[in-house]
Amino acid sequence: KRVSSSSSSTYLIRRSFGSESSSTPERKVAVLGAAGGIGQPLALLMKLNPLVSKLALYDIASTPGVAADVSHINTRSQVTGYMGEDQLAKALEGSDLVIIPAGVPRKPGMTRDDLFNINAGIVKSLCTAIAKYCPNALVNMISNPVNSTVPIAAEIFKKAGTYYEKKLFGVTTLDVVRAKTFYAGKANVSPAGVNVPVVGGHAGITILPLFSQATPKANLGDEEIKALTKRTQDGGTEVVEAKAGKGSATLSMAYAGAVFADSCLKGLNGVPDIVECSYVQSTITELPFFASKVKLGKNGVEEVLGLGPLSDYEKQGLESLKAELKSSIEKGIKFAKDN
Ligand code: NAI
Repeated sequence: KRVSSSSSSTYLIRRSFGSESSSTPERKVAVLGAAGGIGQPLALLMKLNPLVSKLALYDIASTPGVAADVSHINTRSQVTGYMGEDQLAKALEGSDLVIIPAGVPRKPGMTRDDLFNINAGIVKSLCTAIAKYCPNALVNMISNPVNSTVPIAAEIFKKAGTYYEKKLFGVTTLDVVRAKTFYAGKANVSPAGVNVPVVGGHAGITILPLFSQATPKANLGDEEIKALTKRTQDGGTEVVEAKAGKGSATLSMAYAGAVFADSCLKGLNGVPDIVECSYVQSTITELPFFASKVKLGKNGVEEVLGLGPLSDYEKQGLESLKAELKSSIEKGIKFAKDN
């Protein structure tokens, strides 16, 4: 199976001068939170993507500057900035894909759950608007805690009568990006050729990289696998601590978000065999939302793929993540019902 992300990183180099063919469909992408630490580099990367024809940049502040700046890049998409809630409708109308990196990031000592109340409220208001102005768009949720913000979005869409479970994605690509990088380092192979599925959720022990399925194969010992697993699970904290109070991962996250969005657009355009890990509505475990490999197609999720064979260590990891993931899902659902 071809996993798209290895090829999608090369479009930045190959196709950054607007060489799209005339058969490429029109696609509008909206970025909500576009003036933030993730939003700005993500806006840049989406401007470089030849699959995008319109790029709408929305934030509550500072978007005109970001939009003017990015709009001078000589690639296909037309860029428009929108600032403040009264411009949200215009930003969303006609969107095929909405990417949400709006919210507050973690500071040292905070967990993703500490962000819950602020970000849950932001996600709720943005999803209410999506239900109204572009209910058929794919939604890529980056705002943390993803384990809860995706269930919140689902509940908001259900209330509005516009919940299409195949179109709602929690972006866990950064976990995959990290797992690939760290594995490549230990296995002493080029990161570009590495694949590692990451399943479960997107916080601490709910992040479960399946190094037993990593390719190319490397004969790493149990202790090395444990250390790689832990480093992948704590990758976000590594960055939060290194930034020492100035936020969390933004550049690597923007890259990961751009890779995932590119795969979603390819799926919409009918490119076959596009597979990415993502946190979606799922029946592969007893939990209603779960991250695993997902095949992307013209309507979003084409198929949620199974976990494949797990090592004993991964089986243990899977069992021990379920309680935390379940409670984060329930917390999200409760927030959406109570607010
Ligand atoms: P930031 O604070 O630099 O940027 C957030 C932006 O959101 C700001 O420009 C702010 O004005 C905007 N914003 C706030 N309320 C808004 C609203 N109602 N509508 C539109 N925009 C609004 O934060 P950063 O570092 O960009 O992180 C953003 C989010 O992404 C955080 O929740 C963070 O935890 C999450 N994140 C997720 C990752 C993942 O792997 N899924 C990785 C890293 C961060």
